[in-house]
This record gives sequence, C-alpha cells and structure tokens, in this order.
Amino acid sequence: TTVPQFEQAMPVPEVLQPVCDLGLTSYYDMTLQEADAEILPGRLTRVRTFNGSFPGPVIQAVSGRRVVVRQTNQLSVPTSIHLHGGHVPQSSDGSPMDLIAPGGGSKIYTYPNHQPHANLWFHDHAHHQESETVYRGLTGFYLLTDHVEQNLNLPSGAYDVPIALRDARFDDSAQLVYEMGDFRKRQVLLANGKAWPYFEVAARKYRFRLFNTSNMRFYLLQLSDGSAFQQIGSDGGLLAKPLDVTSVFLAPGERADIVIDFSRYAAGTRLILSNAGGLLPGDPADQVGRVLQFRVTGPAEDTSSVPSTLRTLPALGSATVNRDFVLSMDETGKTMDAFINGKTYDMNRIDTEIEYGATEIWTVRNANVYTPHNFHIHLVQFRVLERDGKPVTSGPESGLKDTVTLKPGETVKLQATFTGYEGTYVYHCHMIDHAAMGMMGNFRVSKTAT
Ligand code: C2O
Ligand code: CU
Repeated sequence: TTVPQFEQAMPVPEVLQPVCDLGLTSYYDMTLQEADAEILPGRLTRVRTFNGSFPGPVIQAVSGRRVVVRQTNQLSVPTSIHLHGGHVPQSSDGSPMDLIAPGGGSKIYTYPNHQPHANLWFHDHAHHQESETVYRGLTGFYLLTDHVEQNLNLPSGAYDVPIALRDARFDDSAQLVYEMGDFRKRQVLLANGKAWPYFEVAARKYRFRLFNTSNMRFYLLQLSDGSAFQQIGSDGGLLAKPLDVTSVFLAPGERADIVIDFSRYAAGTRLILSNAGGLLPGDPADQVGRVLQFRVTGPAEDTSSVPSTLRTLPALGSATVNRDFVLSMDETGKTMDAFINGKTYDMNRIDTEIEYGATEIWTVRNANVYTPHNFHIHLVQFRVLERDGKPVTSGPESGLKDTVTLKPGETVKLQATFTGYEGTYVYHCHMIDHAAMGMMGNFRVSKTAT
C-alpha cells in the first residue's frame, strides 16, 4: 500500500493536566489502554496508548516540584513505565522486572525532579515486551524546565513544539505489523503519530524538541534546501552554546533541541525535513528519506532570541574508578543473543557494584563489525569524554547525555557521578530489540560497595 504524503497536519501533543496540585507536588493519572488512531489518512490503526493519545501526552514538570503519576494498566500485557533520563529512586525507575499487572493493575511513580531541565520521555520497559509495546505506541513526553531555561528568551508557546519521530510497518488493513527482526521493513515515518505530515509555520523562529522514539532506526535530519539551523540541546538539556548545524543525528532514545528560523522564507514556501542518513539497504529514499513538510504561512512577530551562551555545564570533577564494557551480538543471525561483557541480561545478577557518590569513567566498545549499538544508562546524565580516542569538547555530544551511539567498532569514554539514590538500575543498548535479546546489565549503587 502506498501512503499519501503531506496530507495530514502534524498535531502538537497535548499537555496533560494534573488531577491536583498540592504544595510542591503535582498528581497525574494515566490509563494504559488500546485506542484507534488515524496514522494513515482516512484509516484507523489499533495502538497502545497513555490515555488514548498516540503518541502519549506531555507532562510539563519543573525542577524542584515533585510529579506523582498513577499508571493503571488496562492492556493485556504487563508494563513497566520508565522515565528515560530521569534521576529517580529505584522504586519509580520503571525497571524491566518491576511490572504493572495487565487487566487493571496500577502503580504510583514518584519523580522528585531534583535535576536540571531536560527533554525526558517515558516508555514501556517490561522485559521481553518493551520492544513490541513501544512499537505499538507506549511512549510519552516529559518536559522538565528550570530557571536556567526559563530565563532565556527561546521561542515558546505555540513556537515550541515537541516532535516524536519513529517508523512503522502497516498491513493492508492499516494495522501495525510487528515481527521481531523485521525492522528493515518499517518504512513509513511518523511525526507525532502521523505518517509524513505537514506542519504550518509562520515566518519566524521555532524551537523543535525532537525525540527518536523508534525501536531501531537512526536519523540524520536536514532541511531539504540544505540550509543551516541551530542545535541548542541534546538528551540532558541545553548545550553550553548553540551550534550552527546543517544536520542532526538521532539514535533511538536520543533527543535534539533545535531552532529553525523560517523568517528567510517567503509565504507559500514548502520545505521538507529530510532524513539523509540512517537509511538501511533497500530503504526507498522517497519514503524513509522524508519526515515531514514545513509550510510557511506568512510573517509573524518574533521577540525570541537564541543567546550565544545557553548554560554552564556542571564541572566534570575527577574520576576514581575505570570500567570497561564490551557490547556484542551474534551477527551471523544463527542465534538471537546479545551481550555486555559476554553475558546476557540476568535480573538476579548484579554486574556492576558502584560506591554511592563515585565518579567513574566507563569505556564502552562496540565489538560488532556491521551492527551499531546505542548505550543508555539509567539514573544518571553522563558526559562523553572521548570518541575513538578523540576528545569530545564541542559539538552535539559535549552536553549532558544519557544515551550514546557506538558505530561498529567504535569506543566511547563516558564519565558519570552516581549519587542521589542507592539502588539497582540498568544500562543497556537502546536499540530496543537488542535490549530484549539481552544486551543489558544491572548496576547497584550503595554506600557499602567495596
Ligand atoms: Cu529509554 Cu532503559 O530506557
Ligand atoms: Cu544494540
């Protein structure tokens, strides 16, 4: 089936209202439920949702104000809701084994928001289910702000738009097809739940917060006229300074915060946000190479600005512990096994014992020859110190990160400080199928670690 392009408007995800605000806490209620969504023009597709929204709603949070979310699972599969990039106690981390029972089970997650602004997101993490459940729609936005960000005069309100990107595969009755390992066939690109939508913009600056919620797909996003825009942030919030770029690379789980200035375009201009990289062999460029179309309407007032300094990143401090992690999987296709340091995930095994408060350098290597990986650590935002031996001191990876790409054969050096909470958390490849195949490990932060 051919899917018509640029027929549907891209929706702006709706902001979820709290059930109540009490003191320094906002309470939210969400129901995990199936719903029908119009992803392809004029067709309905069954999806898994938070409160019926595909993709999920936006939680607007503020540093220092607590968010409490009750998730009630009306799906037929267990779920675990993880706040990706969140600095939260183990009991609210949504770890792979901390399940909400299907058919009406519920769980309360508490997010203290003792962390700086960042574009976080939440998604299912139930081990062996997450790949299909995320694919079928269980993702949402969590935009955490603070005074540092609010004191800037970045584009805001209607000019600040979160966009979830992902791919999908449909059958002839417009239903999602999910088969483990079929990711090469997911050739329909969705932006905020619509296949190849258009988005009307005024001729002024817009801030777009891009989230790669795909299970497996990488993007190299560009404007179709090749023109420059600014990248102002990544996973863990704003960069120190804006970067002038002509493309943005996004691996599964990663975020990019960008500002595009449409004031240089005449009313009526149409422009495609294209995907110049991340095409898999056999991907049709007129499909996978396009994400959405911007339609410039006309001039509008713009008092926003992007300052030359956005924030001061936290000082690096010095590390006392060095560790090595090797990511690998069977590339012959004979088995479906994936490993970290030669082991597949075992919920009962602690792979890494960390002293509370320690600053550590992790050297992570992708031992595969053809397959990229994408390493994500729960609980912390880290810094990328080196990529293949070259120091990372500027560019999109110089900010705070929680997910980092490793092309085949690459090695990255990361630094993180494990403080705030004791407990057991996971690190894993965020190509979700690889995590489901076992490319995941447990680390334990404790005051008694030796
Ligand atoms: Cu976004 Cu452990 O995941
Ligand atoms: Cu991987």
